[in-house]
Amino acid sequence: MKNILKNEYDIQQMRISGKITANVLEMIEPYIVPNASTEDIDKICYYYITQVKQAIPACLGYKNFPKSICISINDVVCHGIPNKKLLLKNGDIVNIDVSVIKNNYYTDASKMFFVGSVSKKNKLLCKIAKKSLYLSLKCIKNKKKINTIGKIIQQYVEKKNFSVVKEYCGHGIGKNFHEFPHILHFYNQNDYIIMQTGMIFTIEPMVNEKAPFVHCMEDGWTVKTKDGGLSAQYEHTILVTKHGCEIITHQKNEKIPKILFNT
Ligand code: MF3
Ligand code: CO
Repeated sequence: MKNILKNEYDIQQMRISGKITANVLEMIEPYIVPNASTEDIDKICYYYITQVKQAIPACLGYKNFPKSICISINDVVCHGIPNKKLLLKNGDIVNIDVSVIKNNYYTDASKMFFVGSVSKKNKLLCKIAKKSLYLSLKCIKNKKKINTIGKIIQQYVEKKNFSVVKEYCGHGIGKNFHEFPHILHFYNQNDYIIMQTGMIFTIEPMVNEKAPFVHCMEDGWTVKTKDGGLSAQYEHTILVTKHGCEIITHQKNEKIPKILFNT
C-alpha cells in the first residue's frame, strides 16, 4: 500500500490549510442573500483566499475548472460553476465547496446555506445530509474499517427516505487534491481498508430528495439530479487519530466538537 500516513509536520500544515478553508465558509455567510450573483460570491472568496490568507483556491484551473469555488444550487448536486447571470433567489438551498492550498497542502470542505426563507422540507434535506456526515465521524478511529463510513451514511439517509449519490466519493488529501483511499458514502462489503492514525481524508455525502441518479451538463462540470429533485452536501477534511478523529476544516458555528473521542 502507498504511504498515505501523514507525519507531524504534514498534520500541522494541514491544520493551517484547514483553518483557512473553514474561515472561507464562515466569512461568506452574510453574502448568501437573494439576488447575489454567484460570480460575485466567487470573487469575494478569491480575494479572501489569495489576498487575506495568501493561499491558492485549489479549484481554479483544476482540470480547467474556471472559478475558485463550486456553487451548487437546489437540484445541482455538485461542481456548479459561478456565473454573473446566475443569481441566488429566496428559498434556494446552496452548497459552497471550498478547497484551498496553503504551503502546498490541500484541504476541502463544503456546507449548505439557506437563501432568505427556506421551506421546512428543504431544510430537512440539508439537516439529514449534515447529520449523515456527523454520524459517520463518530465511527472514525485507528483500526476501524473504512467501509463503516459509507454503511452508516447510507443506512441513516435511506431510513429517512432520502438517497445517496453513488458516483462521487470522498478521498485522501494532503500534498495532492485527491489521494488514496477512496471514501464511499454507501456500503461496499469488498472494501477491506483499515483506518490508521495519521490518515487524512474527506467525507462528503451528497444526499438527494428523490432518486440517487445524476447527470452532467454540457458545460462538462455542473452535475444535476436526473429527476429534478433537490440535493444537499456537507464535506469535511478529517484526520484519523488513536482515539477518534480531528475535524481539520472545523468551523466556529458547528455544534459538533473539533476533536472527537470515539468508542
Ligand atoms: N471539492 C471537490 C472535491 O471534493 C473538487 C471539485 S473539482 C472542481 O473533489 F474543479 F470542480 F473544483
Ligand atoms: Co472533496
